[in-house]
Amino acid sequence: TRVLSVASECVPLIKTGGLADVAGALPGALAAQGVEMRTLVPGYRPVMQAVGRRRKVAEWDNLFGGFARVYRGALGDQVLYALDAPHLFDRDAGPYLDGHGRDWDDNAERFAALSSAAAMICAEGIEGWMPQVMHCHDWQSGWAPLYLRELGASDRVASLMTIHNIAFQGISPPEMISTLGLPHSEFTENGYEFYNNISALKAGLVYSDKLGTVSPTYASELMTEEFGMGLDGVLRARQEDLVGILNGIDEAIWTPPYKTPAGKAKHRAALRDEMGLPDWPGPVCVVVSRLTEQKGLDILLQALPALLDRGGQLVLLGSGNRELERAFLDYREAHPGVAVTIGYDEALARRMIAGGDAILVPSRFEPCGLTQLYGLRHGTLPLVALTGGLADTVINASPAGLAAGAATGLQFHPVTAQALAQSLMKLVKLYEDQTTWKKMMKNAMAAPVGWDQSAAAYAALYAEMVKAE
Ligand code: ADP
Ligand code: GLC
Repeated sequence: TRVLSVASECVPLIKTGGLADVAGALPGALAAQGVEMRTLVPGYRPVMQAVGRRRKVAEWDNLFGGFARVYRGALGDQVLYALDAPHLFDRDAGPYLDGHGRDWDDNAERFAALSSAAAMICAEGIEGWMPQVMHCHDWQSGWAPLYLRELGASDRVASLMTIHNIAFQGISPPEMISTLGLPHSEFTENGYEFYNNISALKAGLVYSDKLGTVSPTYASELMTEEFGMGLDGVLRARQEDLVGILNGIDEAIWTPPYKTPAGKAKHRAALRDEMGLPDWPGPVCVVVSRLTEQKGLDILLQALPALLDRGGQLVLLGSGNRELERAFLDYREAHPGVAVTIGYDEALARRMIAGGDAILVPSRFEPCGLTQLYGLRHGTLPLVALTGGLADTVINASPAGLAAGAATGLQFHPVTAQALAQSLMKLVKLYEDQTTWKKMMKNAMAAPVGWDQSAAAYAALYAEMVKAE
């Protein structure tokens, strides 16, 4: 099957979160399944620096106010296409935010341009290559299925819309309908209208053939008012087309520097040393995260005494919400068992995950989550909220889980400081029983967190979607 994947970020070129890991790993994982996936990404400045402007494979005179070209590059062994539209993407600062942390004010046009280019590539082919499936990720490619339909190609090319995070929907005022070249006739409740505005994500959900998300539990949660963020009704209406397929991790990138639980001690010592933490008896807990409401780290601040008072420690790496950053930095000043690094640092993240005993993910919602998977791979036991992909990937150390010898971590519910504190106390107790702890580490390190199963599931889904030619 020939699939064009359309993503607004992609490892190793540009990343703000897990979507980039997934978009970067999928093509390689799918190649083993006989799927040829090529990836289209915006030609942000760092992307064009990496891809270069030597192999031009498409060009349009006017794409939302300026010329645009597609250059061919590589993503591992697979083909990458970079959409070079300097008026939209050649900028300093992030893919979505300017230097002051505000959304670029033309984000609607920028990602409509990505969507439009994707639809044109699917309708016309590129370098003689004709995609059979267009795989869109999140709101940034949400308009693509509708553009594809407007180009008269949706009867030939199938589309799949994957929701990585429904908190971001790409909402604009109705004045943008003309600017984005959308059909006015579809500005209805059953179309892309969303509470009198227009929504790129809703369009993706309404006009694509199949819908996906990144874990089975999140797929069912999305259809509830609590998690659907206003789109639960749309999703319920399309329940039969919605599938949850777990993310995997790139095991070549996320390999622990040891093979058995015993190998961790050296890395724990090095981490304590690097962070200036004293040698306490309890577990070293790590957090690698965006600091946002979603991730529930405000409740961690309240629950921390339950860990620290029992000899446990916390090493946190993250950035985002300024108040949360401040709160963690302040907390560290008063607590010798806590180390905090504000920033984004891939290498440090690795050292933390290798050296930590446990990784904490107290998210309010979590479509899949990747850091708990990195944790499992490294025998860094995940302590997670019972939600979304966290519910699907961790086996709780309940009496039953322990008795069966299957447990790989801890899950708590509901997402409150009290429930988290209790779970942290349980974690410390488990750690005191090193026989059980080591057994759990072994289970965790053996848990299947790679792409094999999920790549097979995607391959089957694409094959089923292909339309008669
Ligand atoms: P989300 O996409 O919601 O942020 P995921 O768990 O799916 O959550 O993916 C987050 C990714 O970003 C992981 O690869 C994680 O290691 C990485 N990450 C998050 N914050 C940082 C940071 N401060 N430094 C380094 N890597 C980070
Ligand atoms: C989103 C979600 C995260 C998921 C990632 C990749 O950013 O918040 O849970 O792992 O996308 O699918």
